Amino acid sequence: MEIKIRDSNAERIKTDLLVIPVYKKKLDDALIRALDRRLRGNLRVRVQKSKFTGAEGATLIHQTAGLLPAAQLLLIGLGDGAEITGDTWRKIGARVRKEAGALGAEDIAFFFSPDKDSAIAGSALVEGALLAAYQFNKYRSNSKPSAEVKSFTLFNSGLRPTAALMRSIEMAQIAVSGVSLARDLVNEPPSVTTARFLGEQAKKYCRGRGLSAEVWDKRKIESMKLAGLLAVNRGSHEEPRFIKIHYKPAGKPRKKVVLIGKGITFDSGGLSLKPSKSMETMKLDMAGGAAVIAAMSCLPKLGFDIDVTGYVPTTDNLPGSNAQKPGDVIRYRNGKTIEVLNTDAEGRLILADALALAAEQTPDYMINLATLTGACMVALGTQVGGLFSNNQSLADTLLRCAGEAGEKLWQLPLVKEYKEMIKSSVADMKNIGGSHGGAITAALILQEFVGDVPWAHLDIAGPAFAESDNALCPKGGTGFGVRTLLKFLSAL
Ligand code: BES
Ligand code: MN
Ligand code: ZN
Repeated sequence: MEIKIRDSNAERIKTDLLVIPVYKKKLDDALIRALDRRLRGNLRVRVQKSKFTGAEGATLIHQTAGLLPAAQLLLIGLGDGAEITGDTWRKIGARVRKEAGALGAEDIAFFFSPDKDSAIAGSALVEGALLAAYQFNKYRSNSKPSAEVKSFTLFNSGLRPTAALMRSIEMAQIAVSGVSLARDLVNEPPSVTTARFLGEQAKKYCRGRGLSAEVWDKRKIESMKLAGLLAVNRGSHEEPRFIKIHYKPAGKPRKKVVLIGKGITFDSGGLSLKPSKSMETMKLDMAGGAAVIAAMSCLPKLGFDIDVTGYVPTTDNLPGSNAQKPGDVIRYRNGKTIEVLNTDAEGRLILADALALAAEQTPDYMINLATLTGACMVALGTQVGGLFSNNQSLADTLLRCAGEAGEKLWQLPLVKEYKEMIKSSVADMKNIGGSHGGAITAALILQEFVGDVPWAHLDIAGPAFAESDNALCPKGGTGFGVRTLLKFLSAL
């Protein structure tokens, strides 16, 4: 979908679908009246007969029957206008894209006159439209490709493609390409997305100016003493991989950041086997890794002067005959030991390797993304990710960036007292806590591996996967986290 900016007006612009956003109960403004005159009063009659008032997200479609250069007119409600944010525009963009798809419109012309923050509004509109256009159809035999929207034009008389507007629209386009990659990787069946496949995809997508990917095989993983990854991999026929992606900016980097993503390509639970219902979506368990690969893939196009390393430990978690057993102890490269009492608490085991490895390089920030606990999903539902951090200013920055990206994060506490719950009788800690506070005890285990480095952990078990279609994303992988990470890197 091509994005255009045009200096034109609603009565002149030629398009398949002319979109006019309207504030609630402001249907008598000059523009609507002018259009109604051109439409010989038909629009007014239409509106009066309908229940359309301009309530947020409400729509009304009107055929112009040759009375305007635009073939169809879509009024879309902005609500009462009290709080129109990037989120509002993002949802409007998504809604417009969906309506256009349903109407078979090949191009959209959107009357663009936000009251404020036009760069934010313009990029959010574009972002919403692009996010909503995502489909994953490669395994459907009868899907006729739904009509493609070829262009999305923002217009108004006197509208100029200012540098700020164009730059933020470009950022949105780049970020959405990352989100789509993350969604694709999650949506692939788990026997396609193996650790090896994920490594190949990282190599395929993570190259270009300053960006390169290395994929460590089992021997290299052994020599690097990534003991958690090897332990989880023991039940599998597939070899593990450890993906290392590096972005080196052209100039001197101002900051050094490590991003770490959980890459469990399928989580059966291992010997602590999950019930079948809980396993249905467990191809999602590499969503953190997918978000890291996808965010990294965007960096050459964005050109931040930040040194960024991405680590994705990856394997499936299966109960093969050589699988790790409850009671086994893992000794990590930093000397710490974990007693494995539940093989289904495997994410923390593989993240510990990557966090320990990253902490050795003392980066300025370390951020991990993981579909880590069902408990976090119980606490926050499927729309909100849990944020844990040992550094409040990092947490605040991430909360702000997530807010701007329209990805919901909520901070949860690292309760020191709960460390009692992860004490082991044979090792430094055990891999599960008690019957309550499961998201917190998981985070406390990770914290044991980060040393003094400012660190944040995003538990994305809920929002990584949409259980049903929503405005911005069809059912399946959502690509959650990609846009927050990119916003964060751009804000440093
Ligand atoms: N991958 C799961 C967490 C998960 C659950 C993600 C539901 C998305 C949706 C993780 O590996 C897991 O199994 N966690 C266990 C931990 C428990 C055994 C301490 C859980 O949450 O039940
Ligand atoms: Mn598990
Ligand atoms: Zn898991």
